[in-house]
Parts: sequence; structure tokens; C-alpha cells
Amino acid sequence: MSVHVYEPLNTLKPVAENIWIVDGPQINMDIKIGSIPFSTRMTIIKLNDGSLWCHSPIQATPNLIAEINQLGPVKHLVSPNMIHYAYISEWQNYYPDAIAWASPGVDKRAASQNIEVTFDHDLTNQAPPEWSIEIDQLIFKGSAVMEEVVFFHKSSQTLILADLIENFEPQHSKHRWWRLIYKLAGIAHPDGKTPLDFRLTFTGNKITARKSYYKMLGWQPEKIILAHGRWYDMDGVAELKRSFRWLEK
Ligand SMILES: [Fe+2]
Repeated sequence: MSVHVYEPLNTLKPVAENIWIVDGPQINMDIKIGSIPFSTRMTIIKLNDGSLWCHSPIQATPNLIAEINQLGPVKHLVSPNMIHYAYISEWQNYYPDAIAWASPGVDKRAASQNIEVTFDHDLTNQAPPEWSIEIDQLIFKGSAVMEEVVFFHKSSQTLILADLIENFEPQHSKHRWWRLIYKLAGIAHPDGKTPLDFRLTFTGNKITARKSYYKMLGWQPEKIILAHGRWYDMDGVAELKRSFRWLEK
């Protein structure tokens, strides 16, 4: 099974001044009844001191590492949620001086998957001094299972999400039933949202989630970068309101 990926892969693509994405290859996430294909994407921000902040690093390739080395020194490796961390140890090998930042629960999750990774600091509901001038952040609360840390790059007005919105383009898939599955899960472009299984973990605690959502909305993002599927390069506020309408009910 394959998913649409966003060629060219493993190369820096500018989003705005001091912010880039890198589209990665398909990965397969194992579930009880098989595996689900995902496209991958990381985000890189150049901080005011010239160092690089890397959100949800994808599998490193020599070409990508060479491009990044031209851009500046990698200083921060960020796991936004407990299922986005798999390549951080690989990046630590390339950049042993980088600081690895843990999302809530990622240590336990990695241990349960027998994936060795060492984090230096925990992410909190407040941006640390290392990047608070350039990037704001909050922990999106309310899920019984997974809290994602969301980020806002102030100068480019870009919201950076991992799984809170997924927006696959199954129309590019040869498999018709696959389109149906993505649609049923609520993660098909143009109506990408929080995946249904993740949405269900907020049941009974939507009031808490709404507080996080409204704070995020208050950033008034123009762009929204997602880890999976087509990202939004404009109309961020409208896209946020559309994709989080499940929280209004
Ligand atoms: Fe993900």
C-alpha cells in the first residue's frame, strides 16, 4: 500500500523567511490489523542566533544533512508528541551537541517500543528561553491518550502541527477503498482534521481541549504546517476553524 508523498523528497523547501519544510518518504505505522502508510514532513526554523530548531525530524539522508549543514548548526531536536520521535537518535548521531526535547509521555512510549533515545529536556506549556522570542508553544490538552505540543513561528505566522490535523490526498491513490478509509477517518483533503481515533480520546474532556484550541486560534496563523498530507500555505485561521469544528459540538 502506498500513500502520496510530496516530491522532491529530503530537500529543504522554503516556507517563509527562516522557516523550511522537508518532505520525507512514506513510513508504515504498524497497527493490530496491519500497517498504515503515512507521508512524512519535518520543519526547520533558523533562530536569531543562527542555530536550527528541528521539529519532528524525518529519516536523515546524506543530501539532507549536507543541505542543513549549509544552513546552520542544528541545536534543537523536537519531538512534538509521543509517536513522533523515531529518528531523533539518528540525528543525535549527526549532531551530538544538539538538545533533544521530549513531548509528554515520549520516554515511556519509546521504551515500550524498544527504541533507544535519550532526551535532554521536557517540553512544557510554555516556550523555553532558548526559542521563546521566535516561537510560541502550548500543550494541546484534553486527550486521555496523547498530548501534542504545538508551535507557532511568530515572524511567519506559521502554526506547526504533527497529528492534530492530518490532510491526506487519497485522490492520488490507486486504491478506491483507501479514499473511503481516509474520508471516514476525517483526514482526507480538503477536509483534513484530527484523525477519528485521536478525536475519540478527547471524549468527555472537550472543555479542556477547547481552551488549547482557542489559545492556538488566538495566534491567528496564516499558514499551518502538518506532518502528514497537504499543508496549508494560506487562510490558516479559516482552516483551523474548519478542522476543529468537531470540538464545537
Ligand atoms: Fe504522525
